[in-house]
Amino acid sequence: MRNDIERVLFSEEELHARIRELGAQISKDYEGKDLLIVGILKGAVMVTADLIRSISIPINIDFMVVSSYGNSTETSGNVEIKKDISVDIRDKHVLIVEDIIDTGVTLYNLKDFLLKRNPASIKTLTLLEKKERRQVDFYPDYYGFDCPNDFVVGYGLDYAENYRHLPFIGVLKPEIYSK
Ligand code: IMP
Ligand code: MG
Repeated sequence: MRNDIERVLFSEEELHARIRELGAQISKDYEGKDLLIVGILKGAVMVTADLIRSISIPINIDFMVVSSYGNSTETSGNVEIKKDISVDIRDKHVLIVEDIIDTGVTLYNLKDFLLKRNPASIKTLTLLEKKERRQVDFYPDYYGFDCPNDFVVGYGLDYAENYRHLPFIGVLKPEIYSK
């Protein structure tokens, strides 16, 4: 497993420290507001779990499953809602939590989809931001780290459903996905 990783990009300690900062910032920004955190499964499972534990104001949480990638390392451009949230977001402040923004297509479409339900606001947080690869005009309100243009795995991120459980984020050896 560890042999499939070319190099570690963000250690467990670095991830936790940065997410604690984001949690503190969100606690300040949403003080006194009705906040719903929506984690995007499966990739954002780790960042969502760590983020909500560093938020000090009352919040609600929910999850969605959206799909745009399949088993490929290139985006398909389609976003399909496979599991919707189970609460009404009208007049609530929604913060979508994602693992990584690559082309931007997933979050651009998802934000558009949720805005039709008339929330008080929708913002987005992504742990990793691959700015170079953006195909649509979409930028997150909060992000953890800039990510180089490599295929990365771990801390929720997968390649063909593997490596999600690694506690750090690393670059996958290209020979693994070009096989
Ligand atoms: P976007 O729609 O192109 O922004 O794609 C975002 C989604 O692509 C993320 O939620 C990930 O599931 C997936 N993705 C993009 N880059 C990577 C990567 O380097 N490793 C693993 N998954 C990735
Ligand atoms: Mg994802």
